[in-house]
Amino acid sequence: MDKIIVEGGSRLSGRVRVNGAKNAALPIQCAALLGDTPTTLRHVPLLSDVHTMNSLLVGLGCAVSGERSLTIDPRKVGEGPLEASYELVKTMRASVTVMGPLLARYGRARISLPGGCAIGARPIDQHLRGLEALGAEIALSHGYVDVSAKRLRGATFVFDLVTVGGTQNVMMAAALARGGSRLENVASEPEVQELALVLNKMGARIHGAGTSVIEIEGVDTLSGIDHAILPDRIEAGTFMVAAAITGGDVLLEHAPVDHMHAVITKMEEAGVIFEVEPEGLRVRGPARLRPVDVTTKPHPGFPTDMQAQMMVLATLADGQSLITETIFENRFMHVPELCRLGADIQVHGNAAVVRGRATYTGTTVMATDLRASASLILAGLVAQGRTEIRRVYHLDRGYEAIEARLAPLGAKIERIHGAAS
Ligand code: EPZ
Repeated sequence: MDKIIVEGGSRLSGRVRVNGAKNAALPIQCAALLGDTPTTLRHVPLLSDVHTMNSLLVGLGCAVSGERSLTIDPRKVGEGPLEASYELVKTMRASVTVMGPLLARYGRARISLPGGCAIGARPIDQHLRGLEALGAEIALSHGYVDVSAKRLRGATFVFDLVTVGGTQNVMMAAALARGGSRLENVASEPEVQELALVLNKMGARIHGAGTSVIEIEGVDTLSGIDHAILPDRIEAGTFMVAAAITGGDVLLEHAPVDHMHAVITKMEEAGVIFEVEPEGLRVRGPARLRPVDVTTKPHPGFPTDMQAQMMVLATLADGQSLITETIFENRFMHVPELCRLGADIQVHGNAAVVRGRATYTGTTVMATDLRASASLILAGLVAQGRTEIRRVYHLDRGYEAIEARLAPLGAKIERIHGAAS
């Protein structure tokens, strides 16, 4: 397994281009299953999760070619099993998002129940209730769910809670249902809006994405399209924190500023300086950071995927911050490792009291989940001495060669391939 070594103390400066968004690419890869013809995606991030999704699509019968420009040809799907195996779903929960498209386009799907993951139980009950409302038969056995329907019919459905994947699965299914659907209490994340945009480019009739109600008029067929994936607001936010905590001055090319108001506002409150320039967003770190209280919420609130990164900023601020995680029940896996590096953080249920003014000293730490891994890299950038981050496969799920992105900005960071861990 690879590990990453960081020598702390560098002030980051220069420019970095924000990649295509992982959490947009994954559901859009699934949407390609709905088309009668191939779909080509551009600006696709080179991530292990994208590769895993491609493996799932190939297993379903798709022909997949290309990487940064990725072409998915679904024309042979349906000849073989329409199944997302336990191994795949356990590796990547987003695999369940093939369920809606397969059900709508081919009338059936067999999906492994996701089981828990590092950041919580994360059931799919809302996905299943939504598909049932559209007329699907649901059968659970041996850890798998079998969904089937001759033809889905439009319906009104209200989610019990805001779920990004649930919204995406049910929206994709409703796109090919007979008649109209009204989905309420839906997620409004930019990646949900992007998926609705792609579906409408394919011929769907979807209105209201980005609000709490989405109206869908079912159509009979959808066509493949050519689409450029929008920039990754979480990768951008991670680079913003890196610039902020190193007293840096970094230009983020293609930063999706309009999708990042909660993150930018909160970082400005901490003293970070932002300037929109013709070529992107300039981010400067202040001499001193101010403490901030953060509560994660569904979009447009502060994103849970930026919680661990923001916690590192808070550990360095002049005072105490309170960070509250309301989306996942176990998303403080980064806290023990940050404390080993020198942070002073006390967790009480879903709230973390962060003392601030940390003096980080490098040591060996273990990545546990994607965004926790990013927070360890960030802490390493400001730690005295050398920090060794192991099990970086967690990082590679959502960040494309992060060491190769940070080194040109002045970070002393390198990857050791195949290291024992
Ligand atoms: C998406 O996951 C993202 N992943 C996550 O990003 C992100 O953290 C999450 O949305 C929240 O914004 C992708 O887009 C691939 P949810 P998703 O369904 O769709 C509960 C990252 O780091 N829930 O919105 O799986 C669930 O347990 C990843 O890039 C149910 O109870 O998240 C969780 O507590 C991590 N029943 C909450 O809702 C359901 O049927 C939000 O989950 C579905 C969800």
